[in-house]
Amino acid sequence: MAEEIKKEAPANFKVTIDNITVEVAPGTTILQAARMIGGDVTPPAMCYYSKLKGSGGKCRTCLVEVAAGSTADPRPMPKLVASCRTNIMDGMIVKNITSERVQDARAGVVEFLLLNHPLDCPICDQAGECHLQDLGYEHGKEGTRYEFKRRTFEKEDIGPYIQLHMTRCILCYRCTYVADQLTDSRVHGILDRGDHAEISTYISKAIDNDFSGNMIDVCPVGALTDKTFRFKNRVWFTKPVDAHRDCDKCCGKVTLWQRGDDVLRVTARKDEWGEVQSYEGKPGWICNTCRFDTKHTKDWVIEGPTKINRHSVISQGHYVGMQKPAETISKVMGGRDPKLLMDIHSVSDVNSVEIASLPGPATSENFKNSQ
Ligand code: SF4
Ligand code: FES
Repeated sequence: MAEEIKKEAPANFKVTIDNITVEVAPGTTILQAARMIGGDVTPPAMCYYSKLKGSGGKCRTCLVEVAAGSTADPRPMPKLVASCRTNIMDGMIVKNITSERVQDARAGVVEFLLLNHPLDCPICDQAGECHLQDLGYEHGKEGTRYEFKRRTFEKEDIGPYIQLHMTRCILCYRCTYVADQLTDSRVHGILDRGDHAEISTYISKAIDNDFSGNMIDVCPVGALTDKTFRFKNRVWFTKPVDAHRDCDKCCGKVTLWQRGDDVLRVTARKDEWGEVQSYEGKPGWICNTCRFDTKHTKDWVIEGPTKINRHSVISQGHYVGMQKPAETISKVMGGRDPKLLMDIHSVSDVNSVEIASLPGPATSENFKNSQ
């Protein structure tokens, strides 16, 4: 019977998100369909990670409004839904940036995520590549209505390479999925519930596994940071470069974060959604040897500068694949070179000694008068 229904079902479902229609295969989630469209239409995702089974449904940043459930049943869904966990139906109409309810709810989610999160971006190593920082800028408010003391935790070492700042954790569970799905045994997890919940290594056991470093890459905030890079530099001052090496444990394709010729940090390569890139259908997780033990350019075959896709401060100093803007001034001046268009002293009375009788910087006029 189920097979019959499958055969009758159309091969492609149409879904309209923010007035843009795409055709997707049945079983696709709203978030995945939105990623196919790309750009601002795509809801933010702090806990969903397409390469980690079971992820999503924890943070509620990806909420969207379903204005029509399907062609067969076009009634709207009464509540906002988590787009990472809701499958599309044929003829579904979804609103993300075109819905005031969504924008308002997302601002509320950001406020909740920031309730206990310290605003220590100036000293946090994740600054510049933190998804919560981006979300805060886009949807956050200047103030907080929270009157209580924020949660505090004892500092905890999580193995030789990873530092845990539990105060920054948003309990997205991504790192526990990495431990579950990439390493042989998980020795850390989320203990307790509610506002007592915390990531812990369970009796402070060190995470000693070849792929444990990937937890740093999946953490959307600065809760898990690379001890070998901590406080070495701001990420926007470093130069990301794609490189590879023959590695018998992982794909060996990485991004080197360099300052001059020094390799300050090695990470997996990320796609435009901030997730590790896939190669031949497999996620490009990297091993700890590539990440922590090969920090010289001679260890790597350099491919070239990394293309920074996200609207990120990291891209400020890097102009890979960017088109230079047209020279507007020469355009409006009919192709002539821009010249100094006016002398500020000749149009401003403020600093003129004669008029204002105030001391000010010397101008050519003052000089003439003193002759
Ligand atoms: S430590 Fe990072 S990856 Fe792990 S649950 Fe907290 S925020 Fe998520
Ligand atoms: S990304 Fe959908 S709930 Fe977190």
